[in-house]
Formats: sequence, C-alpha cells, structure tokens
Amino acid sequence: MKTIENTLYFDDCNTVELAQKYGTPLLLISEEKLKDKAREIRDDFLNLYDNVRAVYASKAFLNTSMCKIVQREGLGLDVVSGGELYIAKSAGFPMEKIVFHGNNKSKSELTSAVLLGVGRIVVDNLSELNLLNHICEDLQNHTQILFRITPEVSAITHAYIATANRDSKFGLTLESVQDAYQIASASKWISSMGLHFHVGSQLQETTAHFNAFLTALELIDNLAASGFTVHELNTGGGFGVQYTEDDKEMSLKSFVEPMMTHLQNWSNATGIKRPQIIIEPGRWFVASAGLTLYEIGSVKTIPNVRTYISVDGGIPDNIRPALYTAQYRAVIANKMDKTPSETVTIAGKCCESGDILIKDICLPKSERGDLLAVFATGAYTESMSSNYNYLTRPAVALLHQGKASLIRKRETFEDMISRDLLPEHLL
Ligand code: LLP
Repeated sequence: MKTIENTLYFDDCNTVELAQKYGTPLLLISEEKLKDKAREIRDDFLNLYDNVRAVYASKAFLNTSMCKIVQREGLGLDVVSGGELYIAKSAGFPMEKIVFHGNNKSKSELTSAVLLGVGRIVVDNLSELNLLNHICEDLQNHTQILFRITPEVSAITHAYIATANRDSKFGLTLESVQDAYQIASASKWISSMGLHFHVGSQLQETTAHFNAFLTALELIDNLAASGFTVHELNTGGGFGVQYTEDDKEMSLKSFVEPMMTHLQNWSNATGIKRPQIIIEPGRWFVASAGLTLYEIGSVKTIPNVRTYISVDGGIPDNIRPALYTAQYRAVIANKMDKTPSETVTIAGKCCESGDILIKDICLPKSERGDLLAVFATGAYTESMSSNYNYLTRPAVALLHQGKASLIRKRETFEDMISRDLLPEHLL
C-alpha cells in the first residue's frame, strides 16, 4: 500500500485527487495489477505447459477497455449472455477466442453465437443440445461445443457460489454425458470438442477443484472406451483472492501444477492423449486490481452499541456484502498518517438495514467529507451493480502509468429515465 504523507496512492495515482476529479463512488482499476496477473498466467501456465489456454471470465468485470486488455494479454473471453457477447463483439474481440456459457441460453443468444462463429459454445444440458442442433440445422451452420458436467464435488465456499453439487442447475449429470456425446455425434452440425466443469468461486483450497478434475479424467476414460475423444478439458475458474486477513490470495500454481502433473501420469498410464487444458479465472484476475472510493457522510454513534459511518454508495455498487456476507478491508484515503483508533460499521445509503458495506472495522477517527477506500473490489461489484433507490452507477477509471482515464462514465439521472415511456392516456 503506497502512501505519501496522509494520502493513499493506488497504482501511483493520488486517490484524493481522483475522487475530486471524477466524484464518488468511483471504481479504480489498476492496469498494472491486471498485467501482473496476466504475467502469472503466462509464467505459471501458458508458457510452462504445451497445449493449454486461459480464458478470462468476463462476468467478474467487463467493458470495452477490459476486452482490449484481455485481448492484448493473450487471453480468451468467457461470456455468459448475449449482452456480454455484444460487448466483446463491439470491442472487436476475436470471436474464435470466445467461450459461451450459461444454463439457459436463449434461442436468439445461441443463434448469434453460431452466426458470429464463437469459438466454443458450452452446452449445459440435453435440452440445450437439442435446441442448438435445430438452430445449426436451420442456419446450415457448423459449431464446436464443450459439454458442461456437474462433477459432484462440494466446494468450500458460500452456498450461492458453489456450482458442482449433484443438486445444481448447472451442467449435465455424470450419467448423461455418454448420451450427450451420442446425440451430438449423430449431428452433422455439431462437433463435441470436450468437457467443462466449474466447481465454485472464491476457492480458498484446491481439493474440490482437483477432485472435479479427477472425475473428469475418469469420464474421459469411459468416453474413450465408447469411442469418443475428448480433445479439450476446460477446468473453470474459482481461484480465491484475499479480501481480508482471513483470506489467502491463491496462487495460480497451487491449482494448475497438481493438475498438470497428474495429467501427464494419467496419460502415460491410460495411453489416452492428454486433452488441451483450459482455465477460466474471473475474480482472481481482476479483484485486487479494483479499489472503490466513497465519500463519508453521516456519522452516528449509538452509545454502547456502535458507530455507523455512512458512505455515498452501497448495495447498488457492491451487493456482495448483502448477498454473500462478503467482507472487505478499507482505509481512510486522506488520513493515512492517522492511527486506526475506533471500531465502526460502514453503512451504505440505501433504505435497507442490510446495506452494510463493512461491519466492525478499525479506522482512524473519521468525519463527513473523508474518503473511504475499499480494497479488492474489481470483481463482481460493478458487474453486479444496480439502480436500486435510483442511485446512479459509479464511474470507472483505469489507472495506467500514474495516469487515470475514465473507461465508464458515471450514470446520470437522464440515463436512468431514458427507457421510460408514457402511455397515451398519461401524456
Ligand atoms: N467459469 C464459469 C463457467 C463460471 O460460472 C464462473 C463464475 C467462472 C468461470 C469464474 O469464476 P471466478 O474465477 O470468478 O471465481 N457473483 C459471485 C461470483 C459468481 C461466480 C459465477 N461464475 C461473487 O460475487 O462472489
């Protein structure tokens, strides 16, 4: 954490000046930190093993500039809706490097994906396989798919972001994968390239991910016995990051090294050619690159209970504490020279008692006008943002070599009513 005198610097930029210039709440994204993560992906994965690929899960944070950075860093892009696909397309992202996920892609989303020639459509269930086959037949267009499987492992994480239990809306049950291959092999429009799994998000240990990998290898073995070749195995994302002192920033190596070592042994033992391995980090790539600045407003002390410090954002710009009881670390960006001396609770400004950004954090004595900086907010904050209470969504600035550039404008009141229409009788 860099500070000069009393001020917090982020990626060599003065946070107090940025808040004055762009207003608050403000999301800052450090390009340097994104580059560091991309470097780790190259050093510990892409350049270390043959036949591997890395794809950024864009649901964590996406806009046009992010597409450009992801492309420049040599990563593919995981999209999960027609909207994400549209942003990627508008940014000129190469369609063959797109992986299209989702448990309920619509007919029009699948049609666009086929027409645009996205690299892989990840088929989530048999009903979708059927729909995709009809679409391809109607369009007389060929497509390459992966099958998402439910590996039936339990990831140690919040229940809302665990995705690999048998009772999950995502993926084919293990026993239906053979059928799926059979159906796809009968279609001249669909090529089954392999399998995909994603066990869950914010994984703080590697066991569930590795167990899912072992399950996938067993499946590949069984499919091989039925004459089906799995060319690719996409092992999803989920690599955990550090939000507070209780978390670990997981190294990429801790997930990929055991997999890659085991893969070679497995291939030697079974005689099956090893599939291409793909990883799909979202949070891990972008979380620590983000810092959110808020201005402090009301300060209310309830004797013998707590002090509430309210900021000018909350659930609309970061729903994670309310939704997952997510925790964050923060500092007073204009009082870095002061020692933290009081335990307070940071509240958002929404009409919800649950709009609490950080419960019980020790900060220097703070007052109206101070600037709160919340760390590691790059992932799943702005991408999950809303207009609740008609707060405007924050501006986003990209920091690059000590300079900030707006990459998303602050929403305006006019933006918020721009889709409203009046029926004739109300005119
Ligand atoms: N691949 C697939 C198919 C996914 O569904 C996801 C995340 C990822 C990759 C990337 O996972 P990551 O590396 O970011 O953990 N809104 C939640 C997280 C939801 C994750 C959904 N899927 C949160 O704020 O914690």
